[in-house]
Amino acid sequence: MNRKLRRHQERLEKQKAKGSTTPTSPAVAQAFAAAYQHQQAGRVAEALAGYAQVLAMKPDYAEAHYNTGVIFAALGRTEAAIDAYRKAIAVRPDFPEALYNLGTIVQSLEQLEEAASIYTRAIALRPSFAEAHANFAVVLKDLGRLDAALAHCREAVRLRPAYPEAFNNMGTVYQGLGQPREAADAYRRSLALRPHSLETHNNFANALYALHRAGETEEAARRAQEWLAAFPDNPVARHMGTALVAGQAPERANDDYVRHTFDSFSKIFDQRLAQLGYRGPELIAGVLRTALPPANAMLEVLDAGCGTGLCCNVLRPYARRLVGVDLSQGMLNKAAARNAYDELVQSELTAYLLGAVNRFALIAAADVFSYFGDLARVLAAAAQALRPGGMLVFTCEQTTEASSSGYRIDPHGRFAHNEDYLRRTLIEAGLDALQFAPDVLRHEGAAKVPCLVVSARRAAA
Ligand SMILES: C[S@@+](CC[C@H](N)C(=O)[O-])C[C@H]1O[C@@H](n2cnc3c(N)ncnc32)[C@H](O)[C@@H]1O
Repeated sequence: MNRKLRRHQERLEKQKAKGSTTPTSPAVAQAFAAAYQHQQAGRVAEALAGYAQVLAMKPDYAEAHYNTGVIFAALGRTEAAIDAYRKAIAVRPDFPEALYNLGTIVQSLEQLEEAASIYTRAIALRPSFAEAHANFAVVLKDLGRLDAALAHCREAVRLRPAYPEAFNNMGTVYQGLGQPREAADAYRRSLALRPHSLETHNNFANALYALHRAGETEEAARRAQEWLAAFPDNPVARHMGTALVAGQAPERANDDYVRHTFDSFSKIFDQRLAQLGYRGPELIAGVLRTALPPANAMLEVLDAGCGTGLCCNVLRPYARRLVGVDLSQGMLNKAAARNAYDELVQSELTAYLLGAVNRFALIAAADVFSYFGDLARVLAAAAQALRPGGMLVFTCEQTTEASSSGYRIDPHGRFAHNEDYLRRTLIEAGLDALQFAPDVLRHEGAAKVPCLVVSARRAAA
């Protein structure tokens, strides 16, 4: 997703209408100038009609094809844009902007070999084309040609030293090469030029986490500390920076961090979780089978932190009404496409629960409390959102470490809780614990991620 966004930004930067350099008759020149004016003023229908008129008079007018392509691309009419750019290139093969714009579209369609050959032609025509180098680098990285990708990133920033996108791309290439230090340096330079890019902050966090995993824990923590000092208000720095600096833990992942992370992740979430052997839904299903009467579609059920809706098939058979709540609209959009929920709500979970007094007979939260450190408020809110006798089921990443807080944040940014803490906090929330079953939530690399599958009940009235 991030890569696509980046390409899109590059495309918009470059896809400006072009004035004419084509020699032509006064009537054609006048018609082109009128269409161009419409385009500059944002009157796209008039501009398209104008260029069509120009091309009827002079079919080999390269800029008219090109400008038509720019408009179609902005309208999201990909095939029409490709067609227009190809026509521009057919009549003028030495047209680097048309090649570049065509390259960005072909790249976004994941036709990488073709995009590579188009960028090669654009760069041959104009070796100083910094954007073409920067985008070509991403294509080469995706093709696994990392050394060549790095060379093009370097060329892009040599040509344009203040080019945040190219430094960001360079960071991703270094990460692909397994060089997290160099990646972090490149992202830091990108952030110095464009401090608000959440994508680059996220990439920087990943590079520091890779550094940590490579055993350079002190270096990762030192850089995280600097990052936090430089960007104290940035949501990614606040969460991941804190996670990487040992000994500090926020109360929970902040809302902006959660939204940004899961909006970005939503398109590949299901596929990625399948690769990780994620078992949240099946673990919840196991509890429901043993703790509840056979499913009879009679309950008010909340899928808390529903994400893309991976638990809907488990919960739906129990539900008269199934509600999903999540902070990330990207995840909710995916959940909506399953057509399994009666209601989907974008909200922070604790805030939502506080407004849902005595409403649910069953609340399920699969792999959501990994984004909460202190569970006191959310569990108390869940307790009062349950009807008397209602049940809460959740999974938690488990730590067996004893600590005064009862939980810890790991350098990857998720929290793990110990059983004593969970028992204590459930009691304080007014819930009767039913089960604490140790299990495996998913894999991380070769390691199994230990979890506790917990169920608790609100006392019957
Ligand atoms: C790892 S996903 C799990 C999604 C789903 N329960 C499943 O099993 O596939 C965690 C989800 O919790 C949501 N989330 C995290 N913190 C939240 C909060 N404070 N309020 C609402 N949603 C939250 C995230 O947006 C994300 O969709």
